Amino acid sequence: MSDALDVEQLRSETPGCSTGMHFNHSGASLPSQSTLTAIWDYLRREAADGPMEAAHEASARLEEARADAASLIGARPSEIAFLGSGSTAWGAAFAALPPLAAGDRILVGRHEWGGNLATMQAAAARTGARIEIIPGQEDGSIDASALASMIDERVRLVSLTWLPANGGLINDAAAVGRVTKAAGIPYFIDAGQALGQIPIDVAALGCDVLKAAGRKFLRGPRGTAILYVRQEFLPRLTPRYLDVLSGPIVKGVVQIRSDARRFEAGEISPALFLGLGAAIRQARLVGIGAIRQRIGTLANGLRDSLRSIPNVTVRDLGTEFSGIVSFTVKGFPATEVRTALAERQITIGANGVPYTPLDMTVRGLDQIARASVSYVNTVSEVAHLSQAVADIARRA
Ligand SMILES: Cc1ncc(COP(=O)(O)O)c(C=O)c1O
Repeated sequence: MSDALDVEQLRSETPGCSTGMHFNHSGASLPSQSTLTAIWDYLRREAADGPMEAAHEASARLEEARADAASLIGARPSEIAFLGSGSTAWGAAFAALPPLAAGDRILVGRHEWGGNLATMQAAAARTGARIEIIPGQEDGSIDASALASMIDERVRLVSLTWLPANGGLINDAAAVGRVTKAAGIPYFIDAGQALGQIPIDVAALGCDVLKAAGRKFLRGPRGTAILYVRQEFLPRLTPRYLDVLSGPIVKGVVQIRSDARRFEAGEISPALFLGLGAAIRQARLVGIGAIRQRIGTLANGLRDSLRSIPNVTVRDLGTEFSGIVSFTVKGFPATEVRTALAERQITIGANGVPYTPLDMTVRGLDQIARASVSYVNTVSEVAHLSQAVADIARRA
């Protein structure tokens, strides 16, 4: 495979690459040494200087991390809030929408992340709003023209999980954005599996809100997420709760921040977000285009090789694929496949219905094995994984 990246160097700067074969980057990836150093250095400063004092000293670097996060997705720094998880970020924005009423409609893709769906379903149950599923195309991806025919004056939100958790599909999120923009309907994108894996340009996507955790393909720390809210959309969102950062009381009056930090807690972990900043800088240095290309090549190689193994079925939908490779092995629950691979120092995920309840139910699946590929994986690791899956499948 032709390679623009110095993979050996990148692997040598990733401690986890020397301890096993990691194929769970869509669960959480392996941080690089520079990310770990950013976190540890900061924690040492906290211990030596005092946590509040260290935070004061690091505030400019934290704002650099925010600016880097903004650049990564084509946004402005004022449109970025730092939160602790993808679901918290999505939920904060959803809860800030104008109240729903009976008969209001929320349109969702079939592959919606289960956490977002649970939040919407609970809101619908409280208010009498309805959740409706946008039909898919024959290949299982979202059908933007079907969405266009669903639009009316009762639609309050369109929500799309761009790269679903339980498979290699890449939905056409920009096509959905063209429909929502023309109709003037709020559009939320869950980019949890996209950040750090494929180029993101919020203007081209046409979304009002986008969120993603830092720990997945971007290789940032756990406990970090970014929430993007389009500047002009911010006044339409009223945070459910405030604190002294997001809504200080000045002369007796609450001053809700005008930027996306109206959703950010005053108390975040600077160590983790400095680590996130380091991960973003690393991704930009490597180049998101090159990352996308290498992940695509490795993941397609893995898909092809799994397809050739008897008793193994690749479950990825669509025609444009991400670095997530989902499959089932006849006679083996995905959890058993995961355990058998772990015995060979190969880590993958095993996901059930709750991650993508609508899609798993439509397809009659109760579990899938999920191997996800990063640019720090190698062709030889992919071959090892395929061979190990073939050994398991032979026992079926
Ligand atoms: C598409 C997608 N959205 C959201 C999440 C959940 O993010 P978090 O666990 O940070 O809330 C995941 C996690 O796997 C995901 O794949």
